[in-house]
Amino acid sequence: MAPMAGYTNYAFRHLLRQLGGVGLLYTEMLSGQGLFHRRRYRKELPEQLWRVKEEDRPLAVQVWENDPGRLAEVAAWLVEEFHVSLIDLNFGCPARQVAQKAQSGAYLLQFPERIGVLVERVVAACRPTPVTAKIRLGPSQQQITAPAVVQAIEQAGGAAVTVHGRTTQQRFGGRADWEAIARLQSHLKRIPLIGNGDIRSVSEAVAAFGQWPVDGVMIGRAALRRPWLFRQAAAALQGQPILPEPALPQRRQWLLEYYVLLQEQHGPEKATLLMRRYAPLFVDGLPYARLFRSQVCRTNRPEEFLRLVDEFFSARLLSAAYQSEPIS
Ligand SMILES: Cc1cc2nc3c(=O)[nH]c(=O)nc-3n(C[C@H](O)[C@H](O)[C@H](O)COP(=O)(O)O)c2cc1C
Repeated sequence: MAPMAGYTNYAFRHLLRQLGGVGLLYTEMLSGQGLFHRRRYRKELPEQLWRVKEEDRPLAVQVWENDPGRLAEVAAWLVEEFHVSLIDLNFGCPARQVAQKAQSGAYLLQFPERIGVLVERVVAACRPTPVTAKIRLGPSQQQITAPAVVQAIEQAGGAAVTVHGRTTQQRFGGRADWEAIARLQSHLKRIPLIGNGDIRSVSEAVAAFGQWPVDGVMIGRAALRRPWLFRQAAAALQGQPILPEPALPQRRQWLLEYYVLLQEQHGPEKATLLMRRYAPLFVDGLPYARLFRSQVCRTNRPEEFLRLVDEFFSARLLSAAYQSEPIS
């Protein structure tokens, strides 16, 4: 599962672990500088680290930062304090706050040698915990730096590299270029190459392994709407039949369990507000999902939210039962 700010929180990772089939989970990205200052001034931990200590493994924590010393220090602290399975360095985020303002994330794709230095320092500070990196193809189509970047990562002791097949300039426009991702394999000697971008279905995930010389596939947006995609893909990759889409009561239960975890983290009011973003994902593709979304977006009261969920699913269940009646 791809790291996704605002989405791959503990509640979502918990759901994915329950569903099964997923290889590696990541936290949302964390600011290295932010962590550094929180540590120094003994401030509260960022919400992205909620329950990370107790969570099942494997678990990767992703960090963005452009200062080698600071990055190495916070990465070593994450390893020591949280015993995470690996540290992933973000060199792919195009967001203004990260790339322009902080000259981190995708900004660094212009400077493969700086990426090499950052990886080397973190590898030395975190040994034997593996350090991986997530990149894009380069700043723009005119400046494809990924070949030099993946080599720098490997030479610096990186354990794997994930490539989102777009440039920084593209942000999320156009299509991910899997041919460009595949070409990077010839620049690597030892470490796994993980391809990422625009995989929307089980068949596309399976096809990616067959079609491209990648060692792994990372899925982001499609799995937000269909978190069971990994379970289905894992079965398909083992030659088993693709499991059916989950039934409605199951979706309802997952939504409610997710809500409970959000409440534990944020309290009932904030959790209900946050469900404006998350609840629609659980009903994606179902009839009247848009109506449900607009209703959920108008409430900040937990009891009303629960009533809306009940209403939505009982109406759906009734109509599903009605439709499955044999016609006489
Ligand atoms: C809302 C959102 C948040 C994201 N947050 C992160 C992040 O924190 N770290 C990161 O490396 N990539 C992040 N990404 C990029 C994804 O990890 C992934 O590379 C991208 O969505 C392409 O994969 P997909 O087509 O399977 O979604 C984010 C993407 C989206 C849409």
